[in-house]
Amino acid sequence: MAALFRNYLNGLKRVWIRHVGLSRHAQEQIGRRLQGRAYYTMFEEIYQAAYQAGAQELFGGPAPRAVRRTIDRFLEQYPLLPVDTQVIDFGCGEGAVAVYLAQRGFSVTGVDISAAAISRAQTVARRAQAVVHFRVTDALDLQELPGARFDWGLNIGCLHMIVRDEDRRRHLKEMWRVMKPGGLLLSINELARRAVHIKDPDRYLQSFLAVDEAKQVDVAGGKVAIEYKGVGFRRASTAQYRREFEDAGFDVLKTEIFRLEPLWRQVMRRGMLSNQRFLVLCARKLLPGHQP
Ligand SMILES: C[S@@+](CC[C@H](N)C(=O)[O-])C[C@H]1O[C@@H](n2cnc3c(N)ncnc32)[C@H](O)[C@@H]1O
Repeated sequence: MAALFRNYLNGLKRVWIRHVGLSRHAQEQIGRRLQGRAYYTMFEEIYQAAYQAGAQELFGGPAPRAVRRTIDRFLEQYPLLPVDTQVIDFGCGEGAVAVYLAQRGFSVTGVDISAAAISRAQTVARRAQAVVHFRVTDALDLQELPGARFDWGLNIGCLHMIVRDEDRRRHLKEMWRVMKPGGLLLSINELARRAVHIKDPDRYLQSFLAVDEAKQVDVAGGKVAIEYKGVGFRRASTAQYRREFEDAGFDVLKTEIFRLEPLWRQVMRRGMLSNQRFLVLCARKLLPGHQP
């Protein structure tokens, strides 16, 4: 019930901030928190809060069943042979998906900007006896990775953490650069009901960064609530995602709606009809000048 109330209030607060703005004091608080770092590095704070509370992982356990099923269906449709396939997981977090694919024989690289998450990912992989090359790096600037290196890229929940148009373009451009021509991409990012148009990106970002959030994490002997400040977040409609990928030089092969859990379980767990939906988007890297 408290979570329900908090979500409701946060929704109102976001609308208020987007229309009215933040006080100078609140803006200064955000500035102190960011300390000159990019807004999308702030997920690190959530990982830290979970580990300090005693959680092994923020997300916990293996990759969700719905995600694994989507990956399996993708592989049925686009059969990639593990021995020949170099995979990259952009924004891999604690590495659950990267480990899942490494266990199936793929050569996997996982990149994330959070050092805390990558350190946990390394532990998860070690425990599972899986070999994954993890790197702490910014998926908007993957200079340390050569171009045209990967056959298959995954982006599960990373793109929707990138808010500013120019940052999203850089992220997509970098994904395109490190993929081999003809390489495949599987994106699963949160879907908006209708197109999202951001009038004032600064206020929009502040409307996430200024709110207090909470989440239950698994610790030994039960669950504990962690509290943290919000992080930047941006949904898009199917048409908007499609356009972004096409503009970056991908041919969009397929889109479909994805739910992490059935509607009835969402309601049971969250106490409300949140109907959280993601877009599964499959794309292929085109070479410049090539038509699909
Ligand atoms: C919602 S989590 C998803 C993690 C993981 N893909 C999963 O499905 O569990 C988003 C992740 O994207 C990472 N991230 C956000 N911006 C990033 C960037 N510019 N470069 C690399 N990772 C980034 C965050 O640190 C976080 O681990």
